[in-house]
Amino acid sequence: MNVQQRVFSGVQPTGNLHLGNYLGAIKRFAELQDSFDCIYCVVDMHAITPDMRVWGGPSELSRNIREVTAAYLAAGIDPTRHIVFNQSQVSGHAELAWVFNCVSRLGWLNRMTQFKEKAGKDRENASVGLYAYPNLMAADILLYHATHVPVGEDQKQHIELTRDIAQKFNNDFAESIAANGLGRGEEGGYFPLTEPLIGGPAARVMSLRDGSKKMSKSDPSDLSRINLTDDADAVASKIRKAKTDPEPLPTELDGLKGRPEAENLVGIYAALSGSGKEEVLANYGGGQFSTFKGALVELAVEKLGPIGNEMKRLVADPGHIDAVLRDGAERARAIADVTMRQVKDIVGFVR
Ligand code: TYM
Repeated sequence: MNVQQRVFSGVQPTGNLHLGNYLGAIKRFAELQDSFDCIYCVVDMHAITPDMRVWGGPSELSRNIREVTAAYLAAGIDPTRHIVFNQSQVSGHAELAWVFNCVSRLGWLNRMTQFKEKAGKDRENASVGLYAYPNLMAADILLYHATHVPVGEDQKQHIELTRDIAQKFNNDFAESIAANGLGRGEEGGYFPLTEPLIGGPAARVMSLRDGSKKMSKSDPSDLSRINLTDDADAVASKIRKAKTDPEPLPTELDGLKGRPEAENLVGIYAALSGSGKEEVLANYGGGQFSTFKGALVELAVEKLGPIGNEMKRLVADPGHIDAVLRDGAERARAIADVTMRQVKDIVGFVR
């Protein structure tokens, strides 16, 4: 069997889509469309893993699912050439996640830093779903035999876990995989060892208020992030208020060490302009932050304005978005159903 090169990735519909989600993930999703067969998912089952007070309840969830879909489309993802859908419409995600709950180990999940951060001190009160979340993420990816997953730096550990799960499944069921003639690739395993695609100058966009914290949907301060739906005035005022230090910008990359706020703004500029941090410093190094911030405001408004406007236009027509998701789900299901039939044969379930 030919091993295809396939990209899978997802974004949670939890509101407040921000510049980190765009630069670390969605912008890169769009860029991969010419080189890979791509599947982009709105991971709504992941979104309900915290307490309902956190994810906001049914109407907010539906609204957020449509908003993430709109962001995908506004960023230039083509849902006719590739697949765009929401996770809960394809039952294979939950089915494979159950099998993986039985492959994955407690010790592995106990090491997941995102769970520790999200559960905080009140671990006893965290949902079982929040804990098992990485197993569902592995199911998302492996259900489609995805070979590459573009994500921000914060998801690296989850992709490593996905590889561990694939490897253990391949080892545990090696005989059955071979007996069913379902080995793929050189090693004869059934699931691929998926590669993360993490990189570029904005793999980890930091808070505009504190360069030691990542930009996040859940930060109580709206000034900490640029939302994709912020208007030009809001973008300008957030960048102007962004924390910096009193020194001028350095002329060399090395000079950014120990200056997280400066490094963050330079990385954002580089990612938005499609260049590298070196080039940004070649143009702005030695100058004051006020000049650089002015240029960053202009660039951010120019790049993000059209995306925010297109998102607003798209969410005003939920019928169109829902049709895109239904069509994508149907095509995703056609792939997922084959995987689930094969997994059932490998595991020994009678069907
Ligand atoms: P989520 O919804 O938190 O974030 C979506 C994507 O945005 C990236 N990201 C960032 N990148 C750079 N700087 C930041 N400050 C920043 N904040 C977020 C994330 O790394 C991610 O790529 N578990 C995933 C969703 C998921 C998934 C999957 C991803 C579920 N199943 C399968 C890939 C494949 C998450 O919570 O992303």
